[in-house]
Amino acid sequence: MSPSPHTVGTLPAHRPAACPFDPPAELREARRHGPISRYTHPGGKPGWMITGYDLARSVLADPRFSSRKDLLNVVDFSLPPAPPGEFLLMDEPQHSRYRKPLVGRFTVRRMRMLTERVEQVTAEHLDAMAETGGPVDLVTAFAKPIPTIVICEILGVPYEDRPSFQEQIDAFMGGEVSDEELIAAYTATQEYLARLVAAKRANPTDDVLSELTAGDLTDEELKGISLILLAAGFDTTANMLSLGTYALLRHPEQLAALREDPTLTDGAVEELLRYLSVAKTFHRTALEDVELAGRTIETGTTVVLSFHTANRDPERFADPDALDIRRTYDGHLAFSHGIHQCLGQQLARLEMRVALRALIDRFPTLRLAVPAEEVALRPETADIFGVKSLPVTWDEDQAV
Ligand code: HEM
Repeated sequence: MSPSPHTVGTLPAHRPAACPFDPPAELREARRHGPISRYTHPGGKPGWMITGYDLARSVLADPRFSSRKDLLNVVDFSLPPAPPGEFLLMDEPQHSRYRKPLVGRFTVRRMRMLTERVEQVTAEHLDAMAETGGPVDLVTAFAKPIPTIVICEILGVPYEDRPSFQEQIDAFMGGEVSDEELIAAYTATQEYLARLVAAKRANPTDDVLSELTAGDLTDEELKGISLILLAAGFDTTANMLSLGTYALLRHPEQLAALREDPTLTDGAVEELLRYLSVAKTFHRTALEDVELAGRTIETGTTVVLSFHTANRDPERFADPDALDIRRTYDGHLAFSHGIHQCLGQQLARLEMRVALRALIDRFPTLRLAVPAEEVALRPETADIFGVKSLPVTWDEDQAV
């Protein structure tokens, strides 16, 4: 019989002020007690928290755990099923109906074809930044617009619709608006996408959404797919670009090494993904009683997987809290694992490699324009971690 499990209180907890890139103390403490702890969901329901790398990976590959929204057992009331097309919150076979037609559009080969366009969009934003002479907010000048433009172009969102559309998406992804505002922003986004799908069906253009109208998916399903691609597609990458830059600025020796040796870029991107794990937590619900590390997860219980803590597991990574762009290891969980492993990971990698490299090459003296402790971070309630704004500046005569 195992001793009683460690218990983590209801999250969100707070990150350590000294290093805001680290997981909250409660989760680090939990990992010290073992890979799984008792946990109470914010809605009051009892559950489990997984903080160990190997255990998280095995749960993600285990069909006895479900991603279904309607099975989430975290609040007192039943949640509705995921809307048609929102396959992140579905199991097989529904999940494959939506993911399959998309896979070929996000392969390494397809992404290679996009490289030039990503370089071009990046260069335009760096030119505009340089013209201001600084300081600028790196979030609005660089981190947000680049992935937004790219995913909108892939999907086929017309250029002129982007500003208002971006505002709606920001409102429902940022984690900082009232419930009413959140619902209003979500509804407005849905309405916009419904109009977009109808327009693509009537007049197909050269983009993923138009291509998908040729298949057997309904308009409602296409709307759901577009929503998931947008929601998953730019907020994550935007936060990796801004928080990644902030992390490098706070680790000057790592930044200097990267600046000097472009061959370190790919490794730096992987290490930033692991170290920051901006997509912090995901849920799975047990479809039957499952034994995990000596504990029984009862049918219908929801477990939280802390990707951030798992990616700092000392049993998996040597000196896990160090940001080390030369680190060599086999895989991390920043893009998850199993059937829901990030569909857009090659796109995210491409954007990060191109944009981060170009930023540091263009501005060799890039630095924070405010003291580090004044950089405002997103609250832990936000699904995706990041900085709210990142004021940066540089020596104009040294910009290239
Ligand atoms: C799924 C992270 C960028 C599209 C996921 C999951 C994670 C993740 C952790 C899996 C969730 C789970 O297991 O339940 C990230 C990170 C990104 C990123 C950290 C940026 C650095 C993108 C981009 C796209 C995208 C650019 C654009 C196409 C998706 C989709 C899914 C997904 C469609 C759902 C896959 C499925 O359920 O089969 N992402 N993502 N992501 N991501 Fe990403």
